[in-house]
Amino acid sequence: MLLPAGVRIDPNTGAVEPATASYTKRLSELRGLFQDRQAFDATVADGDPLAYEVIDYRWKDSDLAFGTTIMAPGKVGDEYFMTRGHFHERRECGETYYTQSGEGLLLLQSRDGETRTVEMKPGICAFIPPDWAHRSINTGKDKLVFVWHCATDAGHEYGEILEKGMRKLVVERDGRPEVIDNPNFMR
Ligand code: F6R
Ligand code: ZN
Repeated sequence: MLLPAGVRIDPNTGAVEPATASYTKRLSELRGLFQDRQAFDATVADGDPLAYEVIDYRWKDSDLAFGTTIMAPGKVGDEYFMTRGHFHERRECGETYYTQSGEGLLLLQSRDGETRTVEMKPGICAFIPPDWAHRSINTGKDKLVFVWHCATDAGHEYGEILEKGMRKLVVERDGRPEVIDNPNFMR
């Protein structure tokens, strides 16, 4: 039987205590996401920085799961560090992203190609409707830490975003994040 629990989440580090699982992504594992391949290779060669970590509190016998994502600050060329981005396998499943610290943008794209962004900063809980692809982007100088919350079996569908990219990019222009069209988006 699953028992109730109080799970401590550190708003600055994203540590989850107790946690059930975690994984990390180094930049080298995100090949193909960024536009500037030369800058990508140079940054990987220069120490292959940790891009993000995901920590879960997830039990298969529960319908609800939550956890944190901790994103390092950084850029590849003028593009900020980002997550892979995905739809959920179960298309009826939405999600929330509640930012604890840092600043970023949540980039969303519907199945039929509408795009939106939602600001990520402490106090904002982003609502991700069912069947919108979502990618988070750390546009700040510090870690971006957010708590996500979704159905345990929502699943991840990465294929379409990995193959085609997203319609929009978030780049630094004059020291500020700007959302632009992705010139290499494959229809
Ligand atoms: C789960 C979810 C987050 C992300 C995490 C990493 O549905 O949206 O836990 O999985 O922020 O992003 P991806 O999985 O896109 O690399
Ligand atoms: Zn998700």
